Amino acid sequence: MKPLFKGKHFITLEEWEKSEIDKLLEVSLELKEKFKTNVLTDFLKNKTSFLMFFEQSTRTRNSMEAGIAQLGGHANFLDTSTMQISHGETGKDTAIILSSYGHGIACRNCFWTLGNKFIREMAQHATVPVMNLQCDLYHPFQGLADLMTIQEVKPKLNNLKVSIIWAYATSHKKPISVPLTQSLLFPRYGMDVVLAHPKGYELPEWVIAKAKQNAQENGGRFTVTNDMESAYKDADIVIPKNWGSWASNTSDDVIDEVLEANKHWKCSEKMMKLAKKDVKYMHALPADRGNEVEDSVIDGPQSIVYQEAENRLHTAKAVMAMTMGDK
Ligand code: CP
Repeated sequence: MKPLFKGKHFITLEEWEKSEIDKLLEVSLELKEKFKTNVLTDFLKNKTSFLMFFEQSTRTRNSMEAGIAQLGGHANFLDTSTMQISHGETGKDTAIILSSYGHGIACRNCFWTLGNKFIREMAQHATVPVMNLQCDLYHPFQGLADLMTIQEVKPKLNNLKVSIIWAYATSHKKPISVPLTQSLLFPRYGMDVVLAHPKGYELPEWVIAKAKQNAQENGGRFTVTNDMESAYKDADIVIPKNWGSWASNTSDDVIDEVLEANKHWKCSEKMMKLAKKDVKYMHALPADRGNEVEDSVIDGPQSIVYQEAENRLHTAKAVMAMTMGDK
């Protein structure tokens, strides 16, 4: 398998052509099949990837670590609180040095207004591909796995009603990177995308404008509503998930009056009944069970959350195999 996109950074799918994303999806499916049939896939033999985390992770860390091992390489997990970054070392110096030690640098940094800037600073100076493991704005690995999962369960994407719906949660003030990535990506595939949220949880205006442009250029639709029920109505896919009010309120506080006024934004069996009979429920996970979603929905027959999470492994491997390579 040749690294067709060797050296290309993976920071946002907006910087990847549709044909390139399609190739990543094709490779993901191929690697999924090979994984399940125990076929050796040592395309990154003896290659090293550095995984820098400013925040917690279950899926992203483990899909990358297991993924590169299955590709014949090795991942160094780096908790950034134990790196000299925590003493002020720059992204530039970190990127130059890690580039000289290995073949790829991946980083999660979700701090509002800082995360994407930090990853781009590293990309500017790295001589190996830099991969975004989630920042304040984008979560491209999640977007790719979501697209793969949707294509597996609903192969005809044109006019598919996909509703990205805000949901109540109290676990932490979550980044906007998942709904933002989905809002930009899905209209490029001709989907009828609805973004629903209560007032106060708007995504930045430039995101809405770009999502509409992506829809117009690709035969999709993108609409925004404050009406939860209309988002569920006749939906083919629902993605009810919490995100923070970062665009209008930069406070780190998790719970405030606006949040508490919207407890009823929960994915319930009642809401799911408004959707099409064969609707699928998705969530990037972790889910705030009981708040974002009723157990009977996330554990029920319409839920494809574990398939979605599994596809994080196959898409992570595809991105690494296609971007990392020899010096
Ligand atoms: N969906 C996702 O990114 O999960 P983690 O935070 O566990 O990596």
